[in-house]
Amino acid sequence: MIRPLKLSGAFHVPVMLEEVLDVLVWNEGGIYVDGTVGGGGHAEGILGRTTGRLVGMDRDPEAIAEAQRRLAPFGERVELVRARFSEMEEVLKELGIEKVDGVLLDLGVSQHQIEDPERGFSYRQDGPLDMRMSMCGPSAEDVVNRYPKEELERLFREYGEERSARRIAEGICRAREKAPIRSTGQLRDVVLSVIRSSMPHKVLSRTFQARRIEVNDELGELRKGLDAGISLLGRGGRMAVLSYHSLEDRIVKEKFRRWREEGKVELLGRFFPSPEEVRRNPRARGAKLRAVEKL
Ligand SMILES: C[S@@+](CC[C@H](N)C(=O)[O-])C[C@H]1O[C@@H](n2cnc3c(N)ncnc32)[C@H](O)[C@@H]1O
Repeated sequence: MIRPLKLSGAFHVPVMLEEVLDVLVWNEGGIYVDGTVGGGGHAEGILGRTTGRLVGMDRDPEAIAEAQRRLAPFGERVELVRARFSEMEEVLKELGIEKVDGVLLDLGVSQHQIEDPERGFSYRQDGPLDMRMSMCGPSAEDVVNRYPKEELERLFREYGEERSARRIAEGICRAREKAPIRSTGQLRDVVLSVIRSSMPHKVLSRTFQARRIEVNDELGELRKGLDAGISLLGRGGRMAVLSYHSLEDRIVKEKFRRWREEGKVELLGRFFPSPEEVRRNPRARGAKLRAVEKL
């Protein structure tokens, strides 16, 4: 039985807010970049602890609109730009900024994105198969209906770490021969009809995650975003990254380790949400915060 989503009504509750601020904010008058500004929760915290500037970026126009509303009281201290964080260097160049004191990446999707059925991120509600954070370009519907079977299987295996990848890919290809799969509900039913798992919601969650990663090129973005962020940090500058699954965390961990070996950074540690936070905000479960300081 798949329970429908409980709607929170909030745009997004920032995860590990205090921990992020403690590790990231060190120069009170500095310039900070929030590469995933979302609803502006972390950004508001950074602005509250500092007197300098904040550049907030997001690829989702709805997030930029919400951040504009929330961060309006900070006036000219805030610059909001709709862009991918892989484009961070170009965005800052346009703003005439060469070096910054901190970069934050809070990966994944916001509550708003997950809870709006029209965005198609959740299998718990029926809606179009969309999943585009930027609301443009190829969607999950294109992936599901156009990718060859082998590509679908690879995606579910690599990005979903799903053992039934082949069976699910075959099921999708059989179903789409009859009629295109257009909604999250249809896709959920196709997946449920071919798997033999006692935890169907886990399989659904992994296959939906895999498509989301593909549609938004999330891992490619992360690699480029990390490189852009480190090159923008001045000496003593800090980068903090919040990840929510092992594929993301592995990339962050390996980059940070390589930079340390190259003498570029010092590792500031790895942090987890408190049990109390997870009780208050179950979306914090599985979050991992890693941070470095540029030498
Ligand atoms: C977890 S939410 C961030 C929430 C935010 N920290 C807050 O306090 O409200 C992740 C946000 O990052 C955005 N995002 C994900 N990948 C991105 C990318 N490559 N470039 C820009 N924004 C991205 C999503 O659109 C989403 O709004």
